[in-house]
Amino acid sequence: MKAILGQAPKPSKNHRPHHVKLGVSRIPGSKSRRLFQEEQRYIAPGLQTIALLPQLAIERGDGSLLTDVDGNTFIDFHSGVSVCSLGYGHPRYVAALKVQLEKIAVGSFTTRNRLELVKLIARLVPRPLRRTQLFSSGAEAVEAAIRLAKSFTKKFHLFGFWSGFHGKTAGVLGLGGPDWKNEVGPLPPGIHLAAYADCYRCPFQTTFPQCGFLCVEHLREQIKTEANGQVAAIVVEPIQGTAGNVVPPPGYLKVLQEVAREQGALLLADEIITGFGRTGRMFACEHDKVVPDIMTVGKGMGSGFPVSGVISSDEITKAEPWSRPSAASSSYGGNPLASTAALATLRAILDDHLVLHAERVGALMLRRLQAMQEKYEFIGDVRGKGLLIGIDLVKDRKTKEPLPRVLTEQIFLEALKRGLLMMGYTARIRIHPALTLPERLAEEGLNILDETFQAILPRWKSLT
Ligand SMILES: Cc1ncc(COP(=O)(O)O)c(C=O)c1O
Repeated sequence: MKAILGQAPKPSKNHRPHHVKLGVSRIPGSKSRRLFQEEQRYIAPGLQTIALLPQLAIERGDGSLLTDVDGNTFIDFHSGVSVCSLGYGHPRYVAALKVQLEKIAVGSFTTRNRLELVKLIARLVPRPLRRTQLFSSGAEAVEAAIRLAKSFTKKFHLFGFWSGFHGKTAGVLGLGGPDWKNEVGPLPPGIHLAAYADCYRCPFQTTFPQCGFLCVEHLREQIKTEANGQVAAIVVEPIQGTAGNVVPPPGYLKVLQEVAREQGALLLADEIITGFGRTGRMFACEHDKVVPDIMTVGKGMGSGFPVSGVISSDEITKAEPWSRPSAASSSYGGNPLASTAALATLRAILDDHLVLHAERVGALMLRRLQAMQEKYEFIGDVRGKGLLIGIDLVKDRKTKEPLPRVLTEQIFLEALKRGLLMMGYTARIRIHPALTLPERLAEEGLNILDETFQAILPRWKSLT
């Protein structure tokens, strides 16, 4: 893998040009407000909070900078929820898509780019993983992976984790936290949830490593009492993204894999957020030296184009009915444009050494945030791997009571006014910029965050 990843890159020149000023006095600006409000008359409710809160209308993106229709520019620590791994308008990515669009855009026939893509993925994944089937969304890929696990094991119980997230379609909703699945009626049977190794908020109130992975012991017992020998897969995010970029302790995936093996179940690693370099490794499972039986990928693999995939071994992907003609396919999965987008993305990740870049810039950011934690008592926890970083904001460090929403929304808007966009409107701030984020922009964004925390300090003090 080292040979593929290459040497650490030289610092990128893609920093903010001097004439581009960050921040604004009013969010949203008048043009954004007008477009947003007009759209609200026609668009159905339910958009992401990050779009609803600031009401920005976006004009264009350039690397890690986003510009709205009023001409305001923001450093982007969000990258479309960890999607735009190459940053906006990456020249080789844009050029590859333009060429392909002029040739052909749809269809499931073999194309040169799809062939090159699945060959490249086979080179990047650890053995025995080798074969990829392509889809469009993350939820679709996880559903397909679950069908594959059921086809292979001939069992149907699934174990997922509290606060997990695998998409919003019926087959995966049950595997996630309560926010999306309550009040939508019965979901498919056979889905069980166990506590994730969220050590900062450990439900068993223990501490790692003294706990000896008590949460996994609990899972082991839970499986025995609820579905002994009947489990198709344990479905896990190597780092829980939507939950707040929650990093489990080292060795977690290894012990989960042991439980899966004991049960004759598969370990299904959902690498949709973590895959293809995000955590400073090509795949997050590598941190624990674990090779899952099935891996799902998406988001950053297409750097903005909707493309996702299920990756597994020769042996597992042969399982029927999953492998029968048309059984694992979809209208758009791996179409010529999607394959081109993914191929261009993965090639750029390799050619520009973005895995090492993510590791290095992520480590710098983490150190800086840890220094902020010393300074601001309302920062309860800072954690991360590569460019996937989470922060817990608390009212009180001892009780760990989350900072109330009124304050976290102020943090989000104050940061935005100063020129930083991040998923920071809840008590669990999520930072996941483009993998191309230049070091200088990372520093500049963190300066803004520091100023924002300073501005919020008196309001936090008045709470306590
Ligand atoms: C780990 C994980 N799996 C699956 C999904 C669902 O992906 P999509 O929104 O493309 O359906 C997400 C989305 O955030 C995710 O983070």
